[in-house]
Amino acid sequence: MSVLVTGATGFLGGHLCALLLRSEQVCCVVRGRTDQGAEARLRAHLTRLGGPFEPERLTVVRGDLSRPRMGLPAAVYTRLAERVETVYHCAATVNLAASCEHLVPGNVTATREVVRFARHRRTKALHHVSSVAVFAAARELGCAEVDEATEPILAMSGGLGYGQSKFHGEEQVRLAAAEGLPVTVYRPGAILGHSRDWQFSDTDLWTRLVRAAVEVGAAPDSPATMPGAPVDHTAAMIVELSRSSSAAGRVFHPNYLEPIRVGDVFDRVRAAGCDLPAVDPADWKQALLRHAHLPASGLVLACWAGIAYMVVPEPRYLPPCSRARLTTSVAPLPEPALDEAYFARMLAGIAERGHIPKINQLSNPSSPP
Ligand SMILES: NC(=O)c1ccc[n+]([C@@H]2O[C@H](COP(=O)([O-])OP(=O)(O)OC[C@H]3O[C@@H](n4cnc5c(N)ncnc54)[C@H](OP(=O)(O)O)[C@@H]3O)[C@@H](O)[C@H]2O)c1
Repeated sequence: MSVLVTGATGFLGGHLCALLLRSEQVCCVVRGRTDQGAEARLRAHLTRLGGPFEPERLTVVRGDLSRPRMGLPAAVYTRLAERVETVYHCAATVNLAASCEHLVPGNVTATREVVRFARHRRTKALHHVSSVAVFAAARELGCAEVDEATEPILAMSGGLGYGQSKFHGEEQVRLAAAEGLPVTVYRPGAILGHSRDWQFSDTDLWTRLVRAAVEVGAAPDSPATMPGAPVDHTAAMIVELSRSSSAAGRVFHPNYLEPIRVGDVFDRVRAAGCDLPAVDPADWKQALLRHAHLPASGLVLACWAGIAYMVVPEPRYLPPCSRARLTTSVAPLPEPALDEAYFARMLAGIAERGHIPKINQLSNPSSPP
């Protein structure tokens, strides 16, 4: 066995794990009440994401990363530490509404335990998934643009508990790197639904924004931009980069070259058949407050500390997070188009889960490429 993956029952981690399973023996640490329950949950998730995979390539151990030894029995921990060569740490508590303190176990303690594991018995390559949220307020501190060479400081994550906790998680791996652990850091932006069929996670920010816009009957006319990519592209870039011989010690932003403009997303949602007049961001927030009793509007308001970076009259916050060094190291992967057909699939997918009404014009969306 050579690879250990955390967070495989999640959105990005599931896709990453599925890709790795095509060619590697993968072991995943999964939370659960019983060993069988943890394993069944992961296998069902991977199958839902599109399987098939060779079942014998996957091993599941039940654990909890925020506990000492990742919550594993000592013998299992040692055996794994001796066999694993590479760790992909994708697990985290992704919550834009929570305080940093609340997120420490999932985003800082868990990372510290993963670092310990990476050093135990044999030195392993550690691929750590962070977030551009560590730069959320960098523009306010005078950074017109950040790239993969920019060193984040805590103040750059602004008042966002999630960004602060991801910064502290990065600190754990930076310390380990300074002491010789081969660490690579990846900072995705928004992780969007799958480019082929818009399989999405209910906690995805864009899905929530679109659902809230449908609830209030209007969309924010925001010039803000957000780096990001569909989940399959993000996972593919991480796997590709992690296999390059020069990955260790580097930081990558596995996003599309061009950041995504919030206003453009809603233009495409409109073009896909959803009639959402564009309104001033301040008026949109007022509309949300009037609809706060509805599920998506309530959720977006609860996450306002993070959403505020995307719904603004002028882009004051998150600076463009470019891929300065990435382009020189690994040939860029083709970027599936985020066009009208993509957003039509998104709307159809959200409607299928019953979150928004079916939109007539979407009853026959363009077939996936
Ligand atoms: N979503 C985004 O737009 C976005 C953007 C930038 C960066 N990221 C980063 O990308 C990574 C994946 O995000 P995601 O959206 O795919 O997250 P997600 O769907 O919420 O999945 C999180 C995963 O972490 C696992 N996990 C959390 N705490 C754990 C613990 N103590 N022990 C074991 N497993 C634990 C969860 O397991 P359970 O199934 O047991 O809960 C789940 O598998 C994270 O590092 C996140 O910070 C995400």
